[in-house]
Amino acid sequence: MEKHGAQRHRILALLKERGGLTRENAAAVSRETGIPEADVFGAGAFYELLSHPDVDRRVCQGLSCQLAGASEIEGMGVSCLGQCDRAPVAIGKDLHVVHYGRARGGITPDDPSLPMNLGGEDRADYAALHKARALGTDGVIAELKASGLQGRGGAGFPAHLKWASVASQPETERYVVCNADEGEPGTFKDREVMLRRPHLLVEGLAIAAEAVGAKTLFVYVRGEFPEERASFEQALDAASEHVGHLDWRLIDGHGAYICGEETALIESIEGRRGMPRHKPPYPTVAGLWGKPTLMNNVETLACVPDIVLRGGQRFRDLGRTEAGTKLYCISGHVQEPGVYELPLGITLTELVEAAGGYLGTPRAFSPGGASSGFLPMSFADTPLDFGTLGKLGSMLGSAGVVVLDDSVDMAEAARWQAVFYEDESCGQCAPCRLGTQLVRKALDTYLVSGDPADLGHIDDVAWEMEEGSICGLGMIAALPLQTARKHFPEDFGPR
Ligand SMILES: Cc1cc2nc3c(=O)[nH]c(=O)nc-3n(C[C@H](O)[C@H](O)[C@H](O)COP(=O)(O)O)c2cc1C
Ligand code: SF4
Repeated sequence: MEKHGAQRHRILALLKERGGLTRENAAAVSRETGIPEADVFGAGAFYELLSHPDVDRRVCQGLSCQLAGASEIEGMGVSCLGQCDRAPVAIGKDLHVVHYGRARGGITPDDPSLPMNLGGEDRADYAALHKARALGTDGVIAELKASGLQGRGGAGFPAHLKWASVASQPETERYVVCNADEGEPGTFKDREVMLRRPHLLVEGLAIAAEAVGAKTLFVYVRGEFPEERASFEQALDAASEHVGHLDWRLIDGHGAYICGEETALIESIEGRRGMPRHKPPYPTVAGLWGKPTLMNNVETLACVPDIVLRGGQRFRDLGRTEAGTKLYCISGHVQEPGVYELPLGITLTELVEAAGGYLGTPRAFSPGGASSGFLPMSFADTPLDFGTLGKLGSMLGSAGVVVLDDSVDMAEAARWQAVFYEDESCGQCAPCRLGTQLVRKALDTYLVSGDPADLGHIDDVAWEMEEGSICGLGMIAALPLQTARKHFPEDFGPR
């Protein structure tokens, strides 16, 4: 039981301010907040960036960095840093990126007809916010419905349903949360929105808050994105005449991928270990401190000003197989890795064309981050959208596309993804905690023995993980191995 007046939600920020988790810092934060020292320690130890305060260099172990030779760089390993277009990369103690590969990647050319137009100027007239006020809650939600906007954080849930649910709750203390914790390996689009078009995000958030009746907004920014956070803060300051009446809180992530999951993110804002909650209740009904909470991804929110200003139907019509444009990230074996805004439903062939063509001979691709598994090139002309990929047992997820050439051993690629899930499982469900270890160990053993029997139990393990996990991480953590085995059986035979 917490003491009355204890300030649990401050413990992670205070630990960060003091330089990370040490015995002394835990004791000091405990005194300052009234939270027992053991609790401060327990929460802090969950977070990678807090629990190893002395590490000078962390080298990214993500798929694209591995493809670019990350294993040859010295330093402590860390999960994907969201810099796949510059692979291989590391971060220093100040969390700024050290890149060994190339400069920041390609981007769609300036085109004002695009809702996001990452290549263009960041307008700051807040005309959409003013129009939204005239439309009122019902009018804004009607435009969102007409737009067909699906959440861009991974699940593709219709945005208007969430907004309508929060706006209709009897409880009037409501919150808006922006999920800027972008951590899915292969994904780095929210990073570009925050850097290049921060006003679009500020405006989208303000429209959301006013539409659902929230006064306080939380923006949970990935800890390894200090530049992006600064860019957003600068835009917020500059926009104070338009949005200064709202209460804006910027929260730092501390290096835990699972905090991108909405209920884990809520736990983290409240100052706990980022462990997903059981759903229902959904955050729209009972989220932050039990209050109705609208949580959307950065890209979802950044679509909103265009939808309000130029109309939902226009946004919808920009899509091909599904509504709107989409920020596709592409990295790995292509000429110009980067973020490209294209009609939702384009194919890999078209995306790679935008990215300057393949490097080498392509063999496989991962269409939507680690969680989407692998597909062979026979799917290069399949629409990259939520519905089509879902039917194939894969997913569009956050559209972090990674291309692998014919030099890649798919068993090794599956092992890189397995290491990621083992490291990032929060550990609260046994099937996920143990299953992620078993998958990685089975691949380690097979890669040494060359005996396919070492992978014989994996179908059963995968079934247990899918059926017995609370959240999406455990449910799909065996997918990279399962899909690699299905589509590339020649890499899983006797060797
Ligand atoms: C393991 C896991 C990690 C996730 N990571 C992110 C993330 O980094 N960013 C994000 O916006 N959504 C992430 N999500 C999805 C969120 O739970 C949530 O659906 C999303 O933020 C809602 O916003 P949207 O409706 O705008 O997509 C993740 C989900 C899971 C299961
Ligand atoms: S499935 Fe894995 S990551 Fe998700 S709650 Fe369970 S243990 Fe945590």
